[in-house]
Amino acid sequence: MPRKIIIDTDPGVDDTMAIFFALCSPELELLGLTTVFGNVHTKLATKNALRLLEIAGRTDIPVAHGADDALTGDFEGPVPFVHGEDGQGDIFLPDPARAPIDLSAAQFIVEQLRANPGEITLVPIGPLTNIALALRLEPRIAGWVDEVVLMGGNALAPGNASPAAEANIRNDPEAADLVFGADWQVTMVGLDVTLRVHMKPEHIAEYATHGNPLSAHITRILPHYRNYFEANYDAEGIYVHDSSAIAYLIEPDLFTLRRWPIRVGALGLGRGKTWPATGGRIPPEWESRPLVNVCVGVDGERLVALEAERLRGA
Ligand code: BDR
Ligand code: CA
Repeated sequence: MPRKIIIDTDPGVDDTMAIFFALCSPELELLGLTTVFGNVHTKLATKNALRLLEIAGRTDIPVAHGADDALTGDFEGPVPFVHGEDGQGDIFLPDPARAPIDLSAAQFIVEQLRANPGEITLVPIGPLTNIALALRLEPRIAGWVDEVVLMGGNALAPGNASPAAEANIRNDPEAADLVFGADWQVTMVGLDVTLRVHMKPEHIAEYATHGNPLSAHITRILPHYRNYFEANYDAEGIYVHDSSAIAYLIEPDLFTLRRWPIRVGALGLGRGKTWPATGGRIPPEWESRPLVNVCVGVDGERLVALEAERLRGA
């Protein structure tokens, strides 16, 4: 039986790769995409989600439009220098033929979990606003979910949106603190591992030889994203963020985990930093919080090969 998932996403170049990776993996059944602000505004994230499902020939999968702003403040704005003005590496696709469904992202998540208790894994690969809103709408979803496997955060590694914080968490720290504190199993696939998953120029080149629409789209959108990485990191190619969460669902043995309670910094320079309680004595602010599976090690080469293998077979 494939594992049922809902991907909450802000597509986004690496979100695109992650969605396609999931669609090519028989272990996973994608029940829907829910959209959120982050790499782009939510309106564009929704359009892109619909466009991606068209490219993949999966217009049977619903898209639900999500939050436009963070729980406690306005969205601080997209990152065109990373993902392009269109969130797709500045290739400017035509408008999608379909529209999103009438339910909001939070409503869709609640309805799906209610209908399939114990069976669905939520896979947020953007800011955690929709997941927090779903929890507020129906707190019982914590008991209905199978697991929450998210891309975001940095336990022991430095941040990428600021020296302290990772981008998804930095975009809505209050939502993230609610999600890490709810009574469900969260697995955090954050910068501690994703900055060790290196997709090199030779891997990227291989996608152009696959000869299917998914890999062809990835080949079109990657150059802009890759330029950003090469200008800002001391490496050629890219680091693999969102697809690492998909790989965890398919092959968890690629990762090593530690289990710590997590709090999220809300103020000042530490805003958006995910703080694990790693020491012997648990401070009161971390007490009574669930243990999060924090990915701290990864077989990056095998992960990159797994994703390419799946896309080759698309
Ligand atoms: C995360 O931020 C976004 O730019 C990416 O899509 C990914 O989800 C990495 O920090
Ligand atoms: Ca993302």
